[in-house]
Amino acid sequence: MRIEGKEYRTIWFENNVVKIIDQTKLPHHFIIKELKTVNDAVNAIKVMEVRGAPLIGATAAYGLVLAIIEKNDKSFLEKSANHLIASRPTAINLKWAVDRMMNKLSGINSNQILNVALNKAKEICDEDEKFCENIGVNGLKLIENIYNKKKDRVNILTHCNAGWLATINWGTATSPIYYAHKKGIPVHVWVDETRPRNQGANLTSYELNEEEISNTIIADNTGGILMQRGEVDMCIVGTDRTLSNGDVCNKIGTYLKALAAHDNNVPFYVALPSSTIDWDIKDAKDIPIEERNSEELSHVEGVDENNEIKKVLIYPTKSKAMNLAFDVTPAKYVTGLITERGITEASFDGLKKLFK
Ligand code: MRU
Repeated sequence: MRIEGKEYRTIWFENNVVKIIDQTKLPHHFIIKELKTVNDAVNAIKVMEVRGAPLIGATAAYGLVLAIIEKNDKSFLEKSANHLIASRPTAINLKWAVDRMMNKLSGINSNQILNVALNKAKEICDEDEKFCENIGVNGLKLIENIYNKKKDRVNILTHCNAGWLATINWGTATSPIYYAHKKGIPVHVWVDETRPRNQGANLTSYELNEEEISNTIIADNTGGILMQRGEVDMCIVGTDRTLSNGDVCNKIGTYLKALAAHDNNVPFYVALPSSTIDWDIKDAKDIPIEERNSEELSHVEGVDENNEIKKVLIYPTKSKAMNLAFDVTPAKYVTGLITERGITEASFDGLKKLFK
């Protein structure tokens, strides 16, 4: 997708380094950062210079490429794989990508391993881009249906950033929106700010602006009243891990949006590539929910009059804060899953029909 008219993907390999767009500096500064070691990759995932389930998977895949460049040694590679998997706990794509890389690399001799790893990391990225494009094609039909009935602007609410910045390109939740816009359907996006890290305001709104798609940032608690007023035609969100029974783990606050959508008969869709399906965990209670530093709540970041990023304290100094980063929306509140293979109900049978 475009930034200032120029096409980018979110991660690429060039001159023996991995290049990423540093998302901690957006929307104020567009900075391309180089990752030179596997530790750089682990750190970029931890501090969320890269984030979003598919992109952290791709970064981990390239992290293993960097590990091989640093030290072409089996035990270093295995240690690196474990570090990468441990860098963030909730998004299943991280383990999915590392396992895929390690399976491919097992038994490959040291002369060939770098080439094989590079090709596999690129394949993971290319495949994610294709999956996200297909999610767009499939999800477009839902937006078209609403537009054909309504004959007026389609209002879509989204939470967090499940846009192209969270993937390699296109995004998951945003891909149907980009397709609808390209087709000339008038769309408008209600962008949940998504406290505490403001991925909606800082990233989703930013990327929609760059593609000239109408959007309005709202505080996280505003979606309910907009749905009561009939100003939301559908919700589309992303996911970090969807269980085979259709339960959806995504950014904190997704569950409350799904409850409000259910109460107001607003369709609530989740867009995901198959790399985000967890076929193993059966009970949502077993999903590891990341708890991040409470400083993300107690402090806010923005730019000062010199366009420099500053962080300020907004809470009473004595107050405690708790920062759970994800929640789980039970399948019964999910109208459908938009995947690269089609749209299905959020259930084991639905997913099995498409993927097994
Ligand atoms: O903590 P983040 O910013 O990595 O959380 C991202 C989300 O919750 C996204 O909605 C999810 O990863 C889907 S991205 C296509």
